[in-house]
Amino acid sequence: MTVSSLFSPAALGPLQIANRMAVAPMTRVSALADGRATPRMAEYYAEFAAGGFGLVITEGIYTDRAFAQGYLHQPGLADEAHRDAWRPIVDRVHAAGGKIVAQLMHAGAISQGNPHRVPAKGPSAIQPAGAQMSFYRGEGPYRMPEEMSAEEVAEAIDGFASAAVRAREVGFDGVEIHGANGYLLDQFLTEHTNQRSDGYGGDLRARLRLGVDTIQAVRRAVGVDFAVGYRVSQGKVNDFAHKWRGGEADAATVFRTLSATPIDYLHTTEFEAWQPAFGEGPSLALLAQRHGSVPVIANGSLHDAGRAADMLDREEATVIALGRGALTHADWPRRVRDGLPVEAFNRALLSPIADLANADRLRPGR
Ligand SMILES: Cc1cc2nc3c(=O)[nH]c(=O)nc-3n(C[C@H](O)[C@H](O)[C@H](O)COP(=O)(O)O)c2cc1C
Repeated sequence: MTVSSLFSPAALGPLQIANRMAVAPMTRVSALADGRATPRMAEYYAEFAAGGFGLVITEGIYTDRAFAQGYLHQPGLADEAHRDAWRPIVDRVHAAGGKIVAQLMHAGAISQGNPHRVPAKGPSAIQPAGAQMSFYRGEGPYRMPEEMSAEEVAEAIDGFASAAVRAREVGFDGVEIHGANGYLLDQFLTEHTNQRSDGYGGDLRARLRLGVDTIQAVRRAVGVDFAVGYRVSQGKVNDFAHKWRGGEADAATVFRTLSATPIDYLHTTEFEAWQPAFGEGPSLALLAQRHGSVPVIANGSLHDAGRAADMLDREEATVIALGRGALTHADWPRRVRDGLPVEAFNRALLSPIADLANADRLRPGR
């Protein structure tokens, strides 16, 4: 098994990283109730950089004090106090030799905990599939969302842009716009959750427009020398099996359209990153490489180092991102380098609540 490709440097636009291993974004609902990040979160993020990950992508951070917040105790970048609370985290990751990108997230119709506003708002008033996630302190079915007005759509775009500016001000190395996993931008992309009759609904290009407008607004706000990425998936937290109806043709449209905007990378996520995206044929990461024109981060069950290196060697991705693998071993890169054993993921880390206090109970004496 050769894993050396994991250890070569890479660039995501203006963002230079020391190797090709990233921590995937993971919500840990461990912020203060008002959305400020904590010293415990700084320790948590610094461990990944000290463990050898070249890039840390933060958990999804809510962008505004309107409808963006998805979960109680989710961190925000919606005001100056939020911004300043991220500074020790950014500084500690940098001090440990890593780079850190803030994932910007608007939960839209599947918000299950938002102290700022009462209703959940999304593209259309359609009952979300699935049930609220108990490990993020939710219970029962999702609320019936209201349709966002044109003004509320504009406010959501502004929220992303303002949060990106705050991320830049506090020293993040870039932002990743969360366009995946069933949250607001993915709700607009998906035909059954977007029944709008304005310019944001209709064919695939129209349904992608909110993502495109958000990228443009973020780029205008942060300037050119700051990395802006975009995350894409088929599956959703409330509908794991969803596939794009038009198969590879849809993938071509999605990746061409997104990479014609001023983004620096695409981040694709599937349950198993190397599997065909549509029953047979190329993986979603490879489709992003083929039809897009920017580097690709591939995510999904890549905690086997040989498999991860294979994705790079076959040029299906520029960087690989680990979720559960990084939670199991914050020093996964060093273990791989030194040939140390890698354990299986323990679901108890996230149960009953997916927060850091719960994980700490499993590591007495830390
Ligand atoms: C506890 C937990 C929280 C997550 N939160 C987010 C999130 O905030 N944003 C996001 O884009 N993906 C999130 N994900 C998905 C991961 O980024 C990743 O796609 C998923 O874990 C699959 O990768 P893996 O097989 O390496 O774990 C989360 C996953 C886990 C396990």
